[in-house]
This record gives sequence, structure tokens and C-alpha cells, in this order.
Amino acid sequence: MEKVIVIDFGGQYNQLVARRVRECNVYCEIYSYKTDLNQIKSMNPKGIILTGGPNSCYEADSPACTKELFELGIPVLGLCYGAQLMMFVLGGRVERALVQEFGKTELNVNTSSPLFENVSPTTICWMSHTDYISEAAPGFSVTAHTADCPVAAAEDLSRRLFALQFHPEVLHTEEGTKMLYNFVRGVCGCVGTWRMDSFVDTSIQEIRKKVGGGKVLCALSGGVDSSVAAVMLAKAVGSQLTCVFVDHGLLRKDEGDEVEEVFGPNGLYDLNFIRVNAQERFYDRLSGVTEPERKRKIIGEEFIRVFEEEAKKIGAVDFLVQGTIYPDVVESGLGGESAVIKSHHNVGGLPDCVDFKEIIEPLRDLFKDEVRQAGLELGISEKLVYRQPFPGPGLGIRIIGEVTAEKVRIVQDADAVYREEIAKAGLDKSIGQYFAALTNMRSVGVMGDERTYDYAVALRAVNTVDFMTAESAEIPFAVLQTVMSRIINEVRGVNRVFYDLTSKPPGTIEFE
Ligand code: XMP
Repeated sequence: MEKVIVIDFGGQYNQLVARRVRECNVYCEIYSYKTDLNQIKSMNPKGIILTGGPNSCYEADSPACTKELFELGIPVLGLCYGAQLMMFVLGGRVERALVQEFGKTELNVNTSSPLFENVSPTTICWMSHTDYISEAAPGFSVTAHTADCPVAAAEDLSRRLFALQFHPEVLHTEEGTKMLYNFVRGVCGCVGTWRMDSFVDTSIQEIRKKVGGGKVLCALSGGVDSSVAAVMLAKAVGSQLTCVFVDHGLLRKDEGDEVEEVFGPNGLYDLNFIRVNAQERFYDRLSGVTEPERKRKIIGEEFIRVFEEEAKKIGAVDFLVQGTIYPDVVESGLGGESAVIKSHHNVGGLPDCVDFKEIIEPLRDLFKDEVRQAGLELGISEKLVYRQPFPGPGLGIRIIGEVTAEKVRIVQDADAVYREEIAKAGLDKSIGQYFAALTNMRSVGVMGDERTYDYAVALRAVNTVDFMTAESAEIPFAVLQTVMSRIINEVRGVNRVFYDLTSKPPGTIEFE
């Protein structure tokens, strides 16, 4: 399969670069700058992209690359730090800039460059640098500049080397996608064969071949990743697959039943489905516990324990399925290093005692939105595929303080009302993540001439690009009012509703 390799120098947008390349239907993987040159060669990439990074390339222990990287005959595109490094290694000059550029900047480009084909002569790019290229390396011609940056782009067509001081991968660079397209499809000559339907078909065939007649075990959480992984396995090996679904009693309202509807005996797939109703066990273990980290730990540990008990009943299996996705792989130590298994913060680690020979991670190469696409390809309902992100510890971390069955009921009911009204208002697709949480606060109120002393529910809604930062979402006041009055009228035990305006930072998205 044709592929482009992104070499990561520690830039904050490295995953974005890979995403954009895949949007051009070209498969792309990220590797550390420490990756051996021979390994890169053996992957036979059609192109190489060097990412940005926080260092100065002229300093001694900064991440570097050798001259040989540029002599492989493979087209190379350097971005920001990658551009500076390319110039520096090949004999150009990089210096601390007197005027640092940050943000949207007007860029003048030479449109006869293959990288700037169909790009406007004056366009907007996203700059973020303190060093600058004061002199392009020998053999390079300058193909773009800004008011403060004499070498905003340079190229050596004979060696097919390109340098961009700015970030084409962020959407603020208005024609950046075009530039990346020109590089991978034009300069590198990629045909664009990366398609989700072919990925799904090929994966199913590969899984079938790998598993043979073996037995496969999968922990199903009902979330998008594990559901897509399970369906892929079900399509590949059918009844050789057993899915264990641990209902920890901290799911959203009716979610356990919804999972059972899809995967259970009356569901859509031919697999062995085991639902473990472990609610009481979890509530028992959580009784009296108020410290957030402790709660998270207990839920994670108990989950593993329940899963292991079920796995023991099944006996030895050949394969264990994990819903690891590409960002997990990258975050846990960069691609290329073999089989890094994330201690998934969903379930707090892999079960030690499950007797299996090998792990299958069918989504290991996919970004989240690609997982969703694969899910749709596999015929999973939109409702499930576009499910909101839901933390592994579930409602356990949306109930401040001690978790009890009663509090779970309150937060489930309040959350269901909230979700219903958000959908009714047509906001469900536009808000990043929203949910109700139960504060540990009780206050005095009055209802029907009677004094009440009940809980306060907090509503949260945020917009976020990467979940690292988030802004509280603007919800029309009338919608909030409807949600408030419905929760107070319909959910016993609540007499006050708050809307959380806090962004992240300083708040986190979840409450604990
Ligand atoms: P925070 O609260 O850290 O949340 O701002 C960021 C995103 O991560 C989700 N989240 C989790 N997801 N296991 C998960 O799978 C967890 O333990 C966990 N904690 C937070 C949260 O819902 C939000 O989308």
C-alpha cells in the first residue's frame, strides 16, 4: 500500500499532519525522529514529512536528522522546525528571528511551484516560530515570503525537497490542505488508494486468516471503539468470538440494554454475548469512597476483576481484542515501536490473568473519525457510531462524592432529560460533549408549599477540538430553562439546576 511517513520532532500538530494526509486518501503513519534510516527505507514510503517542534535546530541536543535522509530519492517536505532542520542540515542558515511571527499571516507565493499549484498568489498561513530561515540551503529557490519572513517556503525541484516555515496542516492556513494535497498526490505521485471500505474489507480478511479456527475474547464497553472492534471481529469470525459486557451500573440511562439489543442474542450479530450485571458489586466497593482518584481506581480494578472472572469461566482463548486506536498508539510512545499496549484509561490496564496468546487491535491504525467511518461501513447505526465520548469510569466521576444507587438514578434521569432536550433543539450535532452531573450539594427549596432539601444538578456542555482545551458551549437560555424545569419536575431528589460556564483549563471536562 502506498504510504507517506510523518517524522515527528515533537510538534503539537503531528497527528493533524497525518490526518490531513489521510484526507487526501493517502495512508500515513507517524514515527519518531529517532527511527533508524534503514527502517524508514524498508517501509518504502512515497514521501516523508518532517513536523514542527519546539527546539532550535542549531542547538547541540536538539532533535535532528542526517543528510542521508534527503538523499534517499524520496520527496521530503519539512514543516516549521522540519523546514528549518532541512535547511540547516543541507547548508542553509537558521537564526533567532528579531520579529517573531505568531498567528495568521499574509503569505506571498510563487504559484509556479508544484506545491502551490492552484493556490492564490496571496494567501493566509499560520505561523508559529521564534527562529527563521535567513538563508536557504544551496540548490534551493525561495518560493514564498511574508513581511517578516524572507524564506517562508523553499524548494529544490531536482531533489524533490520542500520546506514550509508555516503550518499547512492547521485550518488557519487557508489553502494548506491544497498544499499538502499537491505534495502527496502531485510531487510524491500517490494515487490515493486509502479508503475506509477497502480498509474494512482487508481487515476482515486479515483477521480471518490470523484467527483461523481460534477462539477470540473481547471486552465490550458499549463505546464506539470497542463496538466497532467487536463488529469487525464478529463479521470476520462470527461465533468464534465471545464478547463480555460488564455493566458496572455507571452507564447512561438504558445504555446497558441498548448494548444488549445490538450485541445480545436477539441482536444483529452471530457471536457469544455475555452481559455481567455487576452493578451491586461496584456500588458496594464504592460505598463510603469520596476521593476522585480512589473512585477511578476502584472502578478500573473492579472492572478487570469481573472481566477476569468471566474469562476464567470461558477458559483459554487464543486472542484478546483491544479497541486501541491510533492516537493511543502515538501517545503511548510513538508508532513504529512494536506493540505498545496502552494501559487503557478506560479500564485501568490489561487483565493479567486472562489466558490468551495474542492481542488483536483492529483499529490500531485509525483516527477517531476514521473509526466512526469504519463503523458506518460495517453497518453500525449512526446513533451508536456518533455516541458522545463517555469516560471509562462512567457516571462514577459525574457524581461528586460518594456513589450510591440512588445518586446514579438521579444523574441518569437528569442526563436523559438534558440529552433529549438538546436533541430536540437541534444542538446535538453541534456541541462537542454535554452531560449532566450530580453535585454533592444539597440546598433548601420549596415545592408545592413544602420545604425541600435536595440535590443540585450541574449541566455541562463544551466545544472542543482535541479535548485538551474546551470552551463552555452557548445554549439558548430558553433551552436551559426547559431542561431545568423538566429535571426539577421529573427527577425526584433534585431542586436546583446549575449551568457550568467553566472552560478547560482551568476546569476539566468531567467533574472528577
Ligand atoms: P477531562 O475531564 O480530562 O476529559 O477534561 C477529557 C475527555 O476525556 C474523557 N475522559 C475519559 N475517557 N476514560 C476515558 O475513556 C477516563 O477515565 C476519562 N476521563 C475523562 C472525557 O469524557 C472528555 O471527553
